[in-house]
Amino acid sequence: MKNTNIILEQSSFTKEDLTALLHSEGEEMMLLFARANEIREQFTGKRIFFRGLIELSNICEKDCLYCGIRKSNSNVHRYSLTDKEILDAARFAYENHYGSIVLQSGEIATKAFAKRIEKLLLQIKSMTNDKLGITLSLGEQDPEVYLRWFEAGAHRYLLRIETTNENLFHRIHPDNDLHDFKHRLDCLYSIRKIGYQTGTGVMIGLPFQTVEDLSADLLFFRDFDIDMAGMGPYIEHSETPLYQYKDLLLSLPQRFNLALKMIATLRVLMKDINIAAATALQVIDPIGREKALRAGANVIMPNITPVNYRKDYRLYENKPCLDEEAVQCQSCLESRINAGGNEIGFDDWGDSKHFFDRKNKNGRA
Ligand code: 5AD
Ligand code: FES
Repeated sequence: MKNTNIILEQSSFTKEDLTALLHSEGEEMMLLFARANEIREQFTGKRIFFRGLIELSNICEKDCLYCGIRKSNSNVHRYSLTDKEILDAARFAYENHYGSIVLQSGEIATKAFAKRIEKLLLQIKSMTNDKLGITLSLGEQDPEVYLRWFEAGAHRYLLRIETTNENLFHRIHPDNDLHDFKHRLDCLYSIRKIGYQTGTGVMIGLPFQTVEDLSADLLFFRDFDIDMAGMGPYIEHSETPLYQYKDLLLSLPQRFNLALKMIATLRVLMKDINIAAATALQVIDPIGREKALRAGANVIMPNITPVNYRKDYRLYENKPCLDEEAVQCQSCLESRINAGGNEIGFDDWGDSKHFFDRKNKNGRA
């Protein structure tokens, strides 16, 4: 295998190169992180962008085998924030200069839900004089729904592909039409066609997943030409079917390092995209997200869901910041980001630079 130093000097990468980077350890791994950090600063700047995360409901029609809020988990207390709670959270983000929010929820594909989100988007836009950026993370929807939400003011959409290995996708999802790999891909294509900045990502350290699967995921991101990525370690949840494979998993520190290496390798591969420091990193290491920001990530999503609901939105166990008010989260984050030599891009949407380059190049969104 070639060593990290040599690979990092190349201008293009084969699957083997990416696999070698994902295998790097010790000093070589630190070299990869340092190079990714440099590239991030050079291509996306010193500013780290905030997205206030609003987990608006944990009601979900799906049954993903890894996810704590899957439909069949009857231990979950289901909630849905009121319109007022959502608007208050959005106002909090606006008044605290976050620049953007992310609306995330369990997957609901009803007409009533589509309409409600559309109305909320219009309200948030008018309440903030069009100044607050809005990312959606509301799962698979009809193209018409994606379009309505786009026209109502959302401009970025995140839909993780979870894994691009179709066999593995089938092993971590129930075998029915609601959980279809090709449909998920089609959704990503319609999101992009409509004109959203398009984001996807995978879980890292899933049972049965290999490092080669992860390098194939990276090549998929490059070939799809994504604008944004969100990737984090898989964290087992005892109330899910996938928990039975917990003994097959990498240790938590190994999963953590592999997740950071995925972020850093993606930064080396796609220099000007937005990459989020996933919350799941913080489950393993209290300053996991900040470590990701020093390994190539440039976006962080402080949770601004009202505190009394947070314990019910548990995709995985040991979720951090369950009882921290958004204001507390902000000050501790800010000092840690400044300590890393970066600054927060207050009042800025922090759009993906890659998206605009792609549009200019292709004459399409
Ligand atoms: N561990 C880590 N990430 C998870 N997600 C869902 N369940 C888990 C888990 N157990 C991620 C999925 C989903 C995103 C919202 O959360 O990648 O797309
Ligand atoms: Fe809700 Fe997967 S369990 S989308």
